[in-house]
Amino acid sequence: MTDVTVIGLGPMGATMAETFLKAGHDVTVWNRTASKAEPLVAKGAALAATPVGPSELLVVSQIGYQAMYDSFGELRLDGKVVVNLSSGTPEELRAAARWVAGRGGVLVTGGIMVPPPGIGQPGAYTFYSGPQEVVERHAETLKALSEVHYMGADEGLAMLYYQAQLLVFWSSLTSYMHAVALLGTAGVKPTTFMPYAQETFAGLGGDGPMGFAKILAEEFEAGVYPGDLNTLHMQAVGLGHAVHALADAGLETTVPGALKALFERADAEGRGQEGLGTVIESIRKP
Ligand SMILES: NC(=O)c1ccc[n+]([C@@H]2O[C@H](COP(=O)([O-])OP(=O)(O)OC[C@H]3O[C@@H](n4cnc5c(N)ncnc54)[C@H](OP(=O)(O)O)[C@@H]3O)[C@@H](O)[C@H]2O)c1
Repeated sequence: MTDVTVIGLGPMGATMAETFLKAGHDVTVWNRTASKAEPLVAKGAALAATPVGPSELLVVSQIGYQAMYDSFGELRLDGKVVVNLSSGTPEELRAAARWVAGRGGVLVTGGIMVPPPGIGQPGAYTFYSGPQEVVERHAETLKALSEVHYMGADEGLAMLYYQAQLLVFWSSLTSYMHAVALLGTAGVKPTTFMPYAQETFAGLGGDGPMGFAKILAEEFEAGVYPGDLNTLHMQAVGLGHAVHALADAGLETTVPGALKALFERADAEGRGQEGLGTVIESIRKP
């Protein structure tokens, strides 16, 4: 089957290389620290002498885009398709596309939305951006890792979607940690609270009365945030009580305190009688 070179053998890249091997592809690997390639070579991968492996398709998974520059150095990339699944900023990705083009290659950017155990599993997906025909040409090979979600030609798009998802992921899980810590001060075990947290996570993404991902998306598109059933002002006061409770319990309050400041600013800006969604107006105008 198709040749692919995997560059970067951290937890993600190593699992990607293994997944390509399991799918029957000819896999070449390269990593700055060459010893990390040994388990993959034992499973049938070839070890490349330089990061520009023999295949047209080079899949990169490293800590960030500087690692790609450090790895390729002055090497040419003529005829190569570099699919970089590393974290960066959208601007960095656009600059990287120009850099790869300057060396004769094409950059496809990506943001993979699963941790290592999810790679190659049902439900896994990756946001891709860059030249559509290049993504389509390699989609069959890339599907070994996850579903291919093509988001558009702008190389920054994949990262914008990736970061959008991670903002939700990191902020909700940090709030979950504050919640667990607060209950912990009353002797409540994390696993006792967990089913309620699951209910909240599922509810927010659902279609019911707690389905705020959908409710707010519709409000954002309409630019109208009805507050007749629950006002922002009421929620700013309630959040203030929660921050007070954390402080009383001797816990740190940076993140909930920042939320409180943001809610209070939207309230002070005169939108306290609108719904929670009005906070996005304050986010848009810092
Ligand atoms: N882990 C996850 O759950 C997850 C999920 C989705 C996306 N991601 C993204 O996937 C990417 C890889 O993540 P990871 O968890 O596998 O590990 P990582 O710690 O982000 O990256 C490790 C890899 O980067 C290489 N590297 C770092 N600096 C380098 C440099 N200056 N030059 C060359 N290589 C360099 C390392 O090489 P050495 O081995 O030589 O140090 C190693 O191969 C990241 O961008 C991450 O944000 C991770």
